[in-house]
Amino acid sequence: MNRGFDILGRSPGILRLKELALQVASADVTVLITGETGSGKEVLARFIHEHSRRASKSFIPVNCGAIPSGILESELFGHERGAFTGAIQARKGYFESADRGTIFLDEIGETPLETQVKLLRVIEAGEFQRVGASETVCTDTRIVAATNRNLHQAVAEGNFREDLYYRLRSVELQIPPLRERGGDILLLAEHFIHGFERKHSIAFEGFNPEATELLLRYPWPGNVRELRNLVESLLILERGRQVTPDILERHLVQRSRHKSLVHDPARTESNELSLIYGSLIQLRQEMGEIRQLLQQLLLTNRLQSPQLLLPEPQVTEPMTQSPPSPAAEPTLPLEELEKRTIAVTLTKFGGNKRKTAHALGINERTLYRKIKEYGL
Ligand SMILES: Nc1ncnc2c1ncn2[C@@H]1O[C@H](COP(=O)(O)OP(=O)(O)O)[C@@H](O)[C@H]1O
Ligand SMILES: [Mg+2]
Repeated sequence: MNRGFDILGRSPGILRLKELALQVASADVTVLITGETGSGKEVLARFIHEHSRRASKSFIPVNCGAIPSGILESELFGHERGAFTGAIQARKGYFESADRGTIFLDEIGETPLETQVKLLRVIEAGEFQRVGASETVCTDTRIVAATNRNLHQAVAEGNFREDLYYRLRSVELQIPPLRERGGDILLLAEHFIHGFERKHSIAFEGFNPEATELLLRYPWPGNVRELRNLVESLLILERGRQVTPDILERHLVQRSRHKSLVHDPARTESNELSLIYGSLIQLRQEMGEIRQLLQQLLLTNRLQSPQLLLPEPQVTEPMTQSPPSPAAEPTLPLEELEKRTIAVTLTKFGGNKRKTAHALGINERTLYRKIKEYGL
């Protein structure tokens, strides 16, 4: 399906990483990927899967930080009928669905300690039990885990099991941040420009030399994801114009969460308008990311869990034993799905908006707006 799946980049750091990833892929071992947010951890995990003997089987990404801890275990390992209130039927977990494929455990550092014990058992013995079951299920699933947290510190603080940490770390691949990849910045920018030119049918007028220099100097705290989003905004908002450092700075500042533009005395009307457009585009991008997350949730049947069907239990769909085909999925309005995901995540983090926004991969302002919009 994803044949030819590649990690773009010619910098020494990326070339070395790809070489290592290829060796690791064929060895079928558990891998830990570390790197800043947006640096390409999921891209690398998929690359490993696509270059392994498991390529023809499923690759199942699971964001351990976004699933409420109370249900993570039943999501991963499945459950028996009656295992807990609302478990009307037995259900397979990801490990059963991903059998002979790869499971990508993103944000592994967020996994509760009791689930960590079970993950260790899967890695060491290739077996687990469904929640509420007494018999053991064997699985042949490769685990690729990722984190942007310092797991060593989490171990020292007692939040991450040392044995699991060492087990995962035996093969660790570190993705360098974009700011250390030199020429890759321009190469990736080119790649995204071509993609978005096609998608939006707009021709990009390019960066002038000073703007190009600025691209190379900028520290890219959001890494490749930030570059990708920036390119899309520039293409749409600055159509017909060559990008200068001024334009670029305006867009970069706009994306920075630390600077409040509301108090910028240098605002003019036209740049205010462009701010509004910019926010709209950013919103659209964030919606796209949420949509992706929701699609993943739907595909893996997770949204049929009764716990997630808050706050209207009457919409509960009968649960099936195997992941249903997309056509068999219950269709819920995207807004409804979004509302529920936000509600569940907020509950998980005890109403903490910063953590909730982080887990959902949206910014806090967007979260506030949505909470208000949905009356949560
Ligand atoms: N080397 C790369 N080549 C092409 N696209 C990339 C690369 N690295 C990251 N991306 C893109 O950047 C975005 C963020 O990547 P992702 O793997 O989700 O990052 P992370 O999991 O580290 O937050 C995605 O849209 C991804 O397709
Ligand atoms: Mg990710």
